[in-house]
Amino acid sequence: MASRILPISKIAILSLFICVALVSADKEEEEYGLVRDGDDKKHFLGHKMEKLSHFRFYWHDTYSGKNPSAVTIVKPPANHTTMTGFGTVTAFDDPLTAKPELSSKLLGRAEGFYAVSSQEEFSLLIAMNFVFLQGKYNGSTISIFGRNRVPDKVRELPVIGGSGLFRFARGYAQVSTYSYDTASGDAVAEYNVYLLHY
Ligand SMILES: *[C@@H]1O[C@H](CO)[C@@H](O)[C@H](O)[C@H]1NC(C)=O
Ligand SMILES: *[C@@H]1O[C@H](CO)[C@@H](O)[C@H](O)[C@H]1NC(C)=O
Repeated sequence: MASRILPISKIAILSLFICVALVSADKEEEEYGLVRDGDDKKHFLGHKMEKLSHFRFYWHDTYSGKNPSAVTIVKPPANHTTMTGFGTVTAFDDPLTAKPELSSKLLGRAEGFYAVSSQEEFSLLIAMNFVFLQGKYNGSTISIFGRNRVPDKVRELPVIGGSGLFRFARGYAQVSTYSYDTASGDAVAEYNVYLLHY
């Protein structure tokens, strides 16, 4: 039984490793928005194993002010008005930041458009690329295409691919509204992206 008890020195070394792992995970979250990396290994591509990563960041869609990041490019015809604004198309180039504040670290941009695609409820078809701008992810992209029913607490959007470090990416993004200004339409949304990639 005594041999099962770890000597103090081993415990110390073990806790040191755990601390190092935690510190480096914290640093990556701050640097890239990466919450989890490298678990659930499944397939190999050449010498690389497929892994599951979790990214978290904040998406700022701004209509107001002198430099809006979102512009409505198509309005529905005057003789087809709906409660939802069905047919409205907005293009955006939105900053993605590490924290909910726009002044926090810029991790990337979301470039794309969304269309009001339901006549009965406030639901969007959204198509966009996330372009990452920091460290090893700089220049890598992931592509998202899906349905965003805005009133839902959590919406789920499919990740349909990626480039650079996100080649062969698949997965999903969970989106929740962080803040919404009904007067201007300005919105901040939290994105949690779960990605299988190499
Ligand atoms: C709406 O207006 C367009 C262009 O004037 C016309 O072609 C179309 O028939 C109208 N649709 C309806 C439902 O009135
Ligand atoms: C990201 O890449 C671009 C283009 O290669 C470069 O100009 C920029 O300095 C890089 N940014 C970072 C933070 O490494």
